[in-house]
Amino acid sequence: MVVLGIESSCDETGVALVDASGSAVPRLLSHALFSQIDMHQAYGGVVPELASRDHIRRVLPLTHQVMAEAGISLAQVDVVAYTRGPGLAGALLVGAGVACSLAAALGKPAMGVHHLEGHLLSPFLSADPPEFPFVALLVSGGHTQLMRVDRVGSYELLGETIDDAAGEAFDKSAKLMGLPYPGGPHLSKLAEGGDGAAFKLPRPLLHSGDLDFSFAGLKTAVLTQAKKLGPDLESRKADLAAATQAAIVEVLVKKSLAAMAQTGLKRLVVAGGVGANALLRSQLNAVCKQRGIRVHYPELHLCTDNGAMIALAAGMRLQAGLEALKRSYTFDVKPRWNLAELQAEPA
Ligand code: KG4
Ligand code: ZN
Repeated sequence: MVVLGIESSCDETGVALVDASGSAVPRLLSHALFSQIDMHQAYGGVVPELASRDHIRRVLPLTHQVMAEAGISLAQVDVVAYTRGPGLAGALLVGAGVACSLAAALGKPAMGVHHLEGHLLSPFLSADPPEFPFVALLVSGGHTQLMRVDRVGSYELLGETIDDAAGEAFDKSAKLMGLPYPGGPHLSKLAEGGDGAAFKLPRPLLHSGDLDFSFAGLKTAVLTQAKKLGPDLESRKADLAAATQAAIVEVLVKKSLAAMAQTGLKRLVVAGGVGANALLRSQLNAVCKQRGIRVHYPELHLCTDNGAMIALAAGMRLQAGLEALKRSYTFDVKPRWNLAELQAEPA
């Protein structure tokens, strides 16, 4: 079964082909990505209308590209999957509209996919795929959640952020330091030359006794520190970046360990853009090794948004019998969509 996946929820247009035949872990046949980062950088963040228009420009050329790379014709595609939400409404409508039109033209089923389920399952495309059950730490630009995952479609929320997401904390702190959008990778690069202990920044909710997160106060503390430094900010920027990163990573690591202890599980899956962070990976690897916990990550290039995870999630849901294939081409998008709601919805 060949699944074509289209991702357009934010500022990346991603298209991919996955083979989800039988019950084997789906195999990535080809994928292509266009990142709009350069276009949005001038504005310091994503401009939704520009994002939608650019998705329109990119989606069909990328589709042709993945078909050519995999040596597969459109007639061989069995299902067309797209990101139904959460994300920017206009951007989602482009992917959904194109996917459903293409499916209708081909007489094949179309299938809407939850973006976070895509992130969460993305490590299954890595060379070291996880096995169920596991705890998932989902850390993207918009979400920070810990989940217990027993099988495809079974996502129990253990804790989540009560305000900003970890990615947002990276991005907003980076912006305060004058770094380009998206700040996460830039802040983390700058931090390499800094001392994480140079400034004392808060670790919000670290000892709250639950698995919730809060990052809004951290951003305020970074702002206060930056103001205090005044003209010295420039020379101390690497230290401030390192201290910010250390605070975010410490909270993510400690809460993940608490989730492992609470569930008694021995497998941790990290997914979403912040999962690309090198300090997070090295600290998690070290503490999990001590505790006999296996940690799985997506391939680095599949941490941030991409079409492969959408095609994969569609394939895995079909293999698990969670979706009825429909040749109905009316569609809606869900800009706000809780992953827990996914299970409640009938297939
Ligand atoms: O998962 P993603 O591509 O988008 C959402 O679905 O939100 O994640 C994007 C987020 C951004 O906040 C970005 O700054 C962050 O992931 N990010 C990083 C790194 N790479 C991406 N944060 C810290 N370190 C990185 N290396
Ligand atoms: Zn994402």
